Amino acid sequence: MSIISGARLQPGLPAHVATTRHLCAAYPLVAEAGLGHDGVLIGRDVLGGSFVYDPFALYRSGVVTNPNMVVIGQIGRGKSSFVKSYLWRQAVFGRSAWVIDPKGEYGPLCEAWGVAPVALRPGGPVRLNPLDPGSIDDGPDLGEGLAVRRASLTASLAVSCLGRDLMPRERAAVDAALAAAVARAQGLSWSAPTLPQVVDALLEPDAGAAADLRTTRAELVEDGRDVALELRRLVHGDLRGMFDGPTSEGLRLDGPLVVLDLSAVYHSPALGVLMACAAAWLQSAVQARHRNRILLVVDEAWAILGNLGVARWLQSSWKLSRALGVANIAVLHRLSDLASVGAAGSEQVGLAEGLLADSETRVVYAQSPGEVARTGELLGLTDTEAALVSTLRRGTALWKVGQRSFLVEHRLARGEGWLIDTDQAMSDVAGGDRSDEPGRWR
Ligand SMILES: Nc1ncnc2c1ncn2[C@@H]1O[C@H](COP(=O)(O)OP(=O)(O)OP(=O)(O)O)[C@@H](O)[C@H]1O
Ligand SMILES: [Mg+2]
Repeated sequence: MSIISGARLQPGLPAHVATTRHLCAAYPLVAEAGLGHDGVLIGRDVLGGSFVYDPFALYRSGVVTNPNMVVIGQIGRGKSSFVKSYLWRQAVFGRSAWVIDPKGEYGPLCEAWGVAPVALRPGGPVRLNPLDPGSIDDGPDLGEGLAVRRASLTASLAVSCLGRDLMPRERAAVDAALAAAVARAQGLSWSAPTLPQVVDALLEPDAGAAADLRTTRAELVEDGRDVALELRRLVHGDLRGMFDGPTSEGLRLDGPLVVLDLSAVYHSPALGVLMACAAAWLQSAVQARHRNRILLVVDEAWAILGNLGVARWLQSSWKLSRALGVANIAVLHRLSDLASVGAAGSEQVGLAEGLLADSETRVVYAQSPGEVARTGELLGLTDTEAALVSTLRRGTALWKVGQRSFLVEHRLARGEGWLIDTDQAMSDVAGGDRSDEPGRWR
């Protein structure tokens, strides 16, 4: 049934009033009937009605072919606010969320849920092992085996630390070192190898590994030396003490929300590498628990995607989403964050396009005029949509869901203001305004 709806697409012009059915015809790909009622309320469809969304329901109904989402927008436009309130609302349906939080801003959400964020800092008490097994080796659905995936992660970390691609002999040295580290870990009755063991095996390969590669031990040491020295930073250097040992005991991973707080290293040039380690660990933890319908958020994902090595790895892991029942959400400032999108036909462009192809929900907040053309091109926006994108107000976004488009004003519920406030530093109230705290209205 059609309802009467008004649309004010340009400030200053009088609103156009029509039925939603007519609006769909007048503004194809901008005005749409909604996505149904299966899911959480996001806010108001600017062209009429409420806007409800759930990636798993939309996957079931064939509207999208993958559950992943990319959220793009200029600084302070409401990207993280939307994600936080979305996670909070999804909890009603029993969905749990795992978050990589580089700015340390998901604390109030943790507090509301009664869980503590896992704070990672160099030399701190918590260690996560990015080489933990998960269950990635147990099924053809998951595509890659455990050994391949670990090798791909270690190589990606090495590529981003080195700032260049690995040579074939370096790649072979990494594979041999991983195999040796796995054998060593099993000897020590640990289930997973650790990065220090990989570094040790790179610096001191055994004669058997050299023989397998038809080389000498001395040459194998030389082949893996640069990689070892770079990875060593995570083990002995300024970044030690976070990803360089077995995962700490006693982490609470069964709650509705797990937040990895990386704010202690937010300003580190190695943030992307550290976020990739955290993402690798999160994925293995999710897989090991076989918990379906999880939302996995990488906020400030530009830090990962700006780095070709780890971006490649992230894109490959995005592809596992359907098999694992995980809906990935990446938050970016602009599409050129996708590895500083390079020359036409370059790997960077392929990577950007691949990640977008694997994220069929794209939530686009305001973009600077300089970014609009690139955004329009990569997302296939119509001219009307591209023009809208530079004029959107805080909290309003263009949603592209599969082949469909919506203009959505994200509405905060009473009590959510406190969860999402990142303006404390700009506020007169010390510690932010907590009058809206969830505990006060529940
Ligand atoms: N839908 C909304 N309604 C009202 N206020 C909002 C809304 N969304 C965001 N805000 C306000 O805008 C501020 C900035 O939002 P948020 O931190 O989500 O921006 P962001 O896009 O994630 O920024 P950054 O790129 O810096 O991470 C929040 O503190 C909040 O007060
Ligand atoms: Mg943010």
